[in-house]
Amino acid sequence: MEKNTEVLRTEGDINLTKTRSIWQENHLSKESFEFINDDAKYYLHQSLSTPCLNIIEKSYGIYIEDIDGRKYMDFHGNNVHQIGYGNEYVIRAVKEQLDTLPFSPRRYTNKVAIQLAKKLVAIAPEPLNKVLLAPGGTSAVGMALKLVRKATGKFKTISMWDSFHGASLDAISVGGEALFRNGMGPLMPGTLHIAPYNSYRGLFEDDNGRFKSLDYLEYILERENEIGAIILEPVRCTDVHIPPKEYYQRLRNICDRNNILMIFDEIPTALGRTGKMFTFENFGVIPDIVLIGKGLGGGVFPMAAMLVKGELDVAQDIALGHYTHEKSSLGCAAALATLHYIEDFKLIEKANQLGEYMRIRLKKMQEQYEIIGDVRGIGLLYGVELVLDRHSKEKAIVEAEQVMYKCMEKGLSFKVSQGNVLTLTPPLIIKEQELELAMDILEQSIQEVLAK
Ligand SMILES: Cc1ncc(COP(=O)(O)O)c(C=O)c1O
Repeated sequence: MEKNTEVLRTEGDINLTKTRSIWQENHLSKESFEFINDDAKYYLHQSLSTPCLNIIEKSYGIYIEDIDGRKYMDFHGNNVHQIGYGNEYVIRAVKEQLDTLPFSPRRYTNKVAIQLAKKLVAIAPEPLNKVLLAPGGTSAVGMALKLVRKATGKFKTISMWDSFHGASLDAISVGGEALFRNGMGPLMPGTLHIAPYNSYRGLFEDDNGRFKSLDYLEYILERENEIGAIILEPVRCTDVHIPPKEYYQRLRNICDRNNILMIFDEIPTALGRTGKMFTFENFGVIPDIVLIGKGLGGGVFPMAAMLVKGELDVAQDIALGHYTHEKSSLGCAAALATLHYIEDFKLIEKANQLGEYMRIRLKKMQEQYEIIGDVRGIGLLYGVELVLDRHSKEKAIVEAEQVMYKCMEKGLSFKVSQGNVLTLTPPLIIKEQELELAMDILEQSIQEVLAK
């Protein structure tokens, strides 16, 4: 059996394991290998992509298809795929823009950009009524950090260990994953970190609403008065820990008492994934700044947005974003079509209904198979934690990877986070029978790995 190695597996499964090579040898054609090798020859290598797993040729609906014609239900999709791939609304809207306004220089606005901003403000609760667009989530994080400095005159931030906010230097400074931070210093000054809700559950949090990590935050704030903002992912889209409402309500209260801006990074989780349009709506709080992205581009265009409360419109004299593709007509058309599609096809209601089905199936599996230590979910976002022992919670790293590759053999693709959490994010357009099939595939794969 393959040994657990010391590779950092926080954000996703990695590309250097023996299990992956074996899967490739057993499944990929000679032609696929030639492409993958060529890709690896020309692209810089990095731990979560190149050398790549496989080469795909098509994406449509809930599927990706490789060049050997194998199709996989995509329960990863880098979280751009709430409305699936090749969505009819998006393709039509983008094609129309391509024919009329393929690019909009930044000093001009355009109709579809205005419509998008209006729509974003309409779906967000007050006081979130101002928008700035960016060509990607990381850039939106950078804009938010700049806005905080401008609006508060303070440069320090609090963020969470183990969090991810993008891979640029400012984003990894507030981020908390060693995979991105190691060897990259010096990072941005003033980026203080605290333990996230889940990190030391039992040690820091006692489930009685006391939240020791927030006690520690208050302890810091009694000693630091230059904190401008706290930035966090309300629900991590990797290991899917979901703090209770009381956690966020207390955090909101701490921010208000200390004049600290609360930034929610909902880049992978907004737009229906958690059973609400915005993730914060699950917790009865409204952040001062919310960042969305990924699926906003309808699975075709890199799009992100920062929505802020109106009183933060204070940076007229500097450039917060200044991105070449700021009010991209194509991106805005894709985003607007995405929002309309989510509404027209009631994808948020669907996420809740199907999420309930997923919860029942996964919980049943947990009762049956000792290896499933925990099942956590919200909407159509689930984390299935595999452990060697339920008491010690030792991670079943090798088994998690084996389950993933077994699922791939049967046509289901997803990623593994933290080494042992199967992260399941189906497209919200998935049909009940398809989800049923995916759950059957998962269960059968777990059985096969256990039978070994
Ligand atoms: C929580 C979170 N923030 C920020 C980002 C960065 O977004 P992008 O890759 O679009 O720059 C990601 C991407 O995975 C993310 O998951």
